[in-house]
Amino acid sequence: VTLKQALELAAEKLSVLPDIEAPAFEAEVLLRYCLALDRAELHLNKLKELTPEQVARFFVMISRRLQGEPTNYITGHREFFGLDFKVDSRVLIPRPETELLVEQTLRIIGDRHFQTVSDIGTGSGIIAISLAVNLFRTGSFLNLPGSSLPNVLHNNSTMGVKIFATDISDPALAVARLNAQKHAVDQYITFCRGDLLLALPEPVDLVVANLPYVSTSAMAAMPSALFEPHWALDGGTTGLDQILRLISQLRGRIKEGGAVLLEIGMGQSVAIMDFFRRLYPLCCPQVLRDLAGIDRVIAVVSFHA
Ligand SMILES: C[S@@+](CC[C@H](N)C(=O)[O-])C[C@H]1O[C@@H](n2cnc3c(N)ncnc32)[C@H](O)[C@@H]1O
Repeated sequence: VTLKQALELAAEKLSVLPDIEAPAFEAEVLLRYCLALDRAELHLNKLKELTPEQVARFFVMISRRLQGEPTNYITGHREFFGLDFKVDSRVLIPRPETELLVEQTLRIIGDRHFQTVSDIGTGSGIIAISLAVNLFRTGSFLNLPGSSLPNVLHNNSTMGVKIFATDISDPALAVARLNAQKHAVDQYITFCRGDLLLALPEPVDLVVANLPYVSTSAMAAMPSALFEPHWALDGGTTGLDQILRLISQLRGRIKEGGAVLLEIGMGQSVAIMDFFRRLYPLCCPQVLRDLAGIDRVIAVVSFHA
């Protein structure tokens, strides 16, 4: 069997699953992982024969995928904000829409002199680590599409920034720590276990969070929900349980004039903004839309209790 034939056969098998949108692409990702080849190498070697062991290993992966296991759990990797992260069943697979949250957080940190930043419900650590890489590791500064972040991010004002990354799940924090080491930013991040803001050892200037926001009923229709941690997705009957709990914990745990950025699900912005205004009438929550035009982030740029 040549690489090309294996890919075609695998793509055909994967195409029977309705939730696999790009079967040929996923087959290619898995074959590249199986053979440890990059994209160019795979294409140059398409007519080469696979050994029987390679064929067996590849089709074991394909059958795992056919049983619904996400490709990123099979390979153990996921790219986010231009960085490679380790992922497994202890953590949610990072979603591309969360890049908006990181991008906006970097903008706000660039504009202000914040000293303490927190990523609540860090999971695999993607938010805290993407922030740390961009704040502290000069030379790895990323170019965001269509824009450039202010240079202020690399002046001395960011050197004293402390980052807290929290989660209720110890297994998730173990993955986050590994990812922080992998990206050489573990010295900048303090990992804390605990319930939302109660895990923080001190009041912070900035709270960023991508908490569970899927309603319990919508989870039933999510193919990956069988594999991803339940507590990373399930936001209760309306999906809003954890987000509203975090908002109600803000007083005294975020400094006056601090900022809050929360990722939200489709159709949740009005209820969350109303709740925010009711609890903190002096705050002006704003909604930011993602590339698909969906309300995706609630931002309070200057918090007042
Ligand atoms: C949607 S996942 C997001 C993970 C990661 N921040 C990301 O964007 O990929 C939500 C995370 O919140 C954590 N979590 C859920 N309830 C929590 C709570 N009450 N306190 C702290 N973390 C919680 C979960 O363990 C999970 O890692």
